[in-house]
Amino acid sequence: MINIAIDGPAGAGKSTVAKMVAKELGFIYIDTGALYRSIGIAALRKGFSTDNREQVISILPEIELSLKFVDGEQRVILNGEDVSRDIRLPEASMAASNVSAIPEVRSFLLDMQKKFARENNCLMDGRDIGTVILPDAELKIFLTASPEVRADRRYKELIEKGTPKAYDELLEEIKVRDYNDSHRAVAPLKPAEDAVIVDTSEMSLDEVVEKIISLAKDVKK
Ligand code: DC
Repeated sequence: MINIAIDGPAGAGKSTVAKMVAKELGFIYIDTGALYRSIGIAALRKGFSTDNREQVISILPEIELSLKFVDGEQRVILNGEDVSRDIRLPEASMAASNVSAIPEVRSFLLDMQKKFARENNCLMDGRDIGTVILPDAELKIFLTASPEVRADRRYKELIEKGTPKAYDELLEEIKVRDYNDSHRAVAPLKPAEDAVIVDTSEMSLDEVVEKIISLAKDVKK
């Protein structure tokens, strides 16, 4: 199996890029952030605080998570319920960032991610794919962009969706998440030593996709 790891900070465009590259290569695209988001949602639904480690750990034995693919789109099933929509609610982002700092949550999700990669040609995106989950991936990309560019992209996306939010607030959220994700003790966000760093601040979406596809084609040769 061929595995491609794409890591990088929130808002770098990983999922948009990864979906397009996976389609072109005929690979399965796995969005691992969705798994952390599902655990965050499960904790919030219990009325728990997602930064309370004991409370979050206490729900893990009750959680059954699986992924389904419908027309190439990933769906997350939490205890039999498709939560793909709920995990995109604004509160799910910070909840996911909080629960993802808990080592027990990370190990809970580890085998599931590794198993997918063993069984499929896949492109997996997240924060620790190249460093922890798939250290032997054939290609590792670290996709990044400046916080200002990422906040601006998010700002425009929300206007298009009809749910605008102030730019300054978005920039602040991105900075907080970057800090949380890269300063946690376990599996912090950082490029793997052998990752190709792609800074998309000055690149169009098509340029980024093209670059990754050409790197992937070199691997497949
Ligand atoms: O990619 P995303 O925004 O959906 O991720 C949500 C949160 O989950 C993010 O703040 C960090 C965490 N995460 C992680 O720690 N490891 C991953 N492989 C994927 C996401």
